[in-house]
Amino acid sequence: MKLAISGKGGVGKTTIAGALARVLAREHQRVLALDADSNPNLAVTLGLSREQGAQVKSVPMGTTEWRTDEDGKAYVHLCQPVAAFIAEYGVAAPEGVQLLVMGEVLQASAGCRCEAHALARGITGQLVAEADVVVLDMEAGLEHLGRGTTEHVDILLIVVEPYYRALEAAKRIRDLATQLNLAQIVVVGNRIRTPVEAAAVVQYCHNHSLELIATIPDDEAIREAEQRGVAPIDYAPQSPAMQDIRNLATTLLARPT
Ligand SMILES: Nc1ncnc2c1ncn2[C@@H]1O[C@H](COP(=O)(O)OP(=O)(O)O)[C@@H](O)[C@H]1O
Ligand SMILES: [Mg+2]
Repeated sequence: MKLAISGKGGVGKTTIAGALARVLAREHQRVLALDADSNPNLAVTLGLSREQGAQVKSVPMGTTEWRTDEDGKAYVHLCQPVAAFIAEYGVAAPEGVQLLVMGEVLQASAGCRCEAHALARGITGQLVAEADVVVLDMEAGLEHLGRGTTEHVDILLIVVEPYYRALEAAKRIRDLATQLNLAQIVVVGNRIRTPVEAAAVVQYCHNHSLELIATIPDDEAIREAEQRGVAPIDYAPQSPAMQDIRNLATTLLARPT
């Protein structure tokens, strides 16, 4: 299962990606977590310390090439096999999750990020034996769809919060993802505070034919975990949000990919 997590900025993508990766690893899945955000912070929600997260080496640029196959279709060629990337740049997080970070912007005016996108696309396209599950934590916005970064994922999980702009972004993401022929596009409502907010998300998804597969409450424990620099799944594994993320993992594993 190759899963990409997308949505507007700040809706909870990285929180959900990290916790989901850990829960799936507990379910005996070999999990590769890919951080494709230019401001990467998946390491902490996976359970690494802030210091460990700061020391992770991003996969450098210059490791991909665009090539054309026999049918004239462009594809990303990786200059090393995926396993070699994992061996060289992979960092072990708790429960055996492997983390790869790509696309961190370290320098101002350093140019565009197309290669970081190509790398995420190449790795998800060429990964076969190295993992059972890939969780790709995307940068906010739509660029990953414009660039086809998520072309090879099985499930695009769009995270929304219960307010109009986040929901509108989800609709745009879905419309673009449909053009990429992504097989499964699903929505998760996060930071739901009240039944009225839950109903608003349900209604919006219904009106726009978005498939809502889970809702996660607004949870004080997640804020506290963040303040302490600890993964929510380690800080408060029984908190309501973490329980819903466990249920989400079960739902995802039950879907055909
Ligand atoms: N269910 C939740 N309840 C409370 N706070 C949350 C919840 N989900 C995410 N957060 C908080 O919201 C902020 C943004 O979350 P993050 O996962 O970094 O979003 P994104 O990756 O989409 O930008 C963080 O401070 C995180 O701790
Ligand atoms: Mg994030």
